[in-house]
Amino acid sequence: MTRKVALVTGAASGMGRTHAVRLASDGAIVIVQDIDAAGLDETARIVAAAGGDARTQVFDITDVAAIDMMACDVNREFGGIDIVVNNAGIGVDRVIEDIDPAAFDRMIGVHVKGSFFCGRAAVPSMKKRRWGRIINVSSRWAQAGHVMASDYIAAKGAILGLTKAWAKELAPFGITVNAIAPGGVWSRMVIENLGEEGVRREEREVPLGRWAQPEEISSTVSFLASERASFITGQVVSPNGGKTIVGI
Ligand SMILES: NC(=O)c1ccc[n+]([C@@H]2O[C@H](COP(=O)([O-])OP(=O)(O)OC[C@H]3O[C@@H](n4cnc5c(N)ncnc54)[C@H](O)[C@@H]3O)[C@@H](O)[C@H]2O)c1
Repeated sequence: MTRKVALVTGAASGMGRTHAVRLASDGAIVIVQDIDAAGLDETARIVAAAGGDARTQVFDITDVAAIDMMACDVNREFGGIDIVVNNAGIGVDRVIEDIDPAAFDRMIGVHVKGSFFCGRAAVPSMKKRRWGRIINVSSRWAQAGHVMASDYIAAKGAILGLTKAWAKELAPFGITVNAIAPGGVWSRMVIENLGEEGVRREEREVPLGRWAQPEEISSTVSFLASERASFITGQVVSPNGGKTIVGI
């Protein structure tokens, strides 16, 4: 992946950070994006300390004008974006009655609108180069369902549809599009929602007996972004410790 340009959204913490660090160690120049400037600086520092090359982009992923401006900056400096990892996300536990229109719009905006327009911004340069990788982050819950997260699951389900549609539309241009649907992963988002004790309880339900560390999910992202995954498109890869087994 040497000198490929990889955009990772939501890269100020959790999996976004480890995806960026991993892709940089694979040789990519990483454009790290997030709404959290301090966390993003820390990600860029970690990438640089490991000898990698990171550029920060601070904006809200629902802001399409900012996405397009970021793509212009990257095109000017590097000629285009080769790899997009649509990772930015929010997760809030709430019952249906507590999901008001503004909360619903925000959930769809961050996950679906953000992913859609980041992909859209990268596609022209990918088409020109006849090579590209788009990796959309969904969730095991979009495959299996879950309580108190119907707005989140609606958004993550839409991401699966988007992945399949783009895979077919972009295949003739050498662009692969896949989704990952992680199971439980230790990150700020889940600790804030469930608490550490809550996560420990959930871990007992996983056949492998634990939740993943973010780096384990980054291995899947690294694989899908690489030449090794050249014949894989339109698929949903679910690193989930065996919690949900589908498709057999
Ligand atoms: N942790 C899990 O168990 C789990 C499981 C399945 C899928 N996921 C998904 O993985 C992705 C990463 O989540 P994580 O667990 O690492 O959580 P995290 O909270 O550590 O990371 C999410 C990042 O997205 C950023 N973000 C949120 N809203 C944004 C916005 N409007 N604009 C730009 N950036 C924004 C946050 O600042 C944060 O840095 C998310 O899409 C999440 O839904 C997580």
